[in-house]
Amino acid sequence: MHHSTRLLVGAAFAVVSIFGTLQAMKGQAPEEGSALTFDQSGRMVYPSRYREWVYLSSGFNMSYTPKAGANAQQGALFDNVFVDPASYRAFQKSGKWPNGTVLILEIRNGETKGSINQGGHFQSGINHVEAHVKDESRFAGAWAFFGFNGEKNGALLPKSASCYSCHEQHGAVDTTFVQFYPTLQANNKEAKAGR
Ligand code: HEC
Repeated sequence: MHHSTRLLVGAAFAVVSIFGTLQAMKGQAPEEGSALTFDQSGRMVYPSRYREWVYLSSGFNMSYTPKAGANAQQGALFDNVFVDPASYRAFQKSGKWPNGTVLILEIRNGETKGSINQGGHFQSGINHVEAHVKDESRFAGAWAFFGFNGEKNGALLPKSASCYSCHEQHGAVDTTFVQFYPTLQANNKEAKAGR
């Protein structure tokens, strides 16, 4: 009697814990851990859930040459920066980006006319999406840039692209622009020292 009760209780526990594990796996979502994946030709798989990651900042019509207004001709552009949650947590602890870091730059069109808006700009559709990723075993210099065309896998941008030189010269922390991401600056001395 006792024995079989215990078995039943044990079985019930097993079922509950298997169910719990399955739920946890479901909830864990691919954005955790597996953000950085490549297809067989070395293209980066589009991280379709980056919008559920950690938001770092938005730039509005940022321009990196004294000839301001280069963007004004194309219309206003916003850029929104996201990082995968695991790398965000690692950075907040150590001040360093771990292997597997994925930073996303989402460029959105800015609008002035719509609904009740009388001044200023608001965001609308996606213009394009770019990634900056860290994988020491795959890339010389650890970091690489990818450009996406819609949700298709993204092409690796060559080392000769201006992305690499500007980020290396001006990014405050390990080729990333932490000087523009206020929520990452608390535990990092280099963070504000961008040139
Ligand atoms: C002249 C300098 C410059 C060049 C060239 C440049 N970037 Fe950036 N990039 C920046 C700045 C500044 C930011 C910060 C944006 C913000 O604060 O919103 C940034 C941010 C990013 C981010 C967010 C993560 C990070 O590293 O901080 C990505 C992704 C990115 N750029 C991709 C690219 C790609 C791809 C190219 C080349 C096609 C490129 N960038 C070329 C200056 C540059």
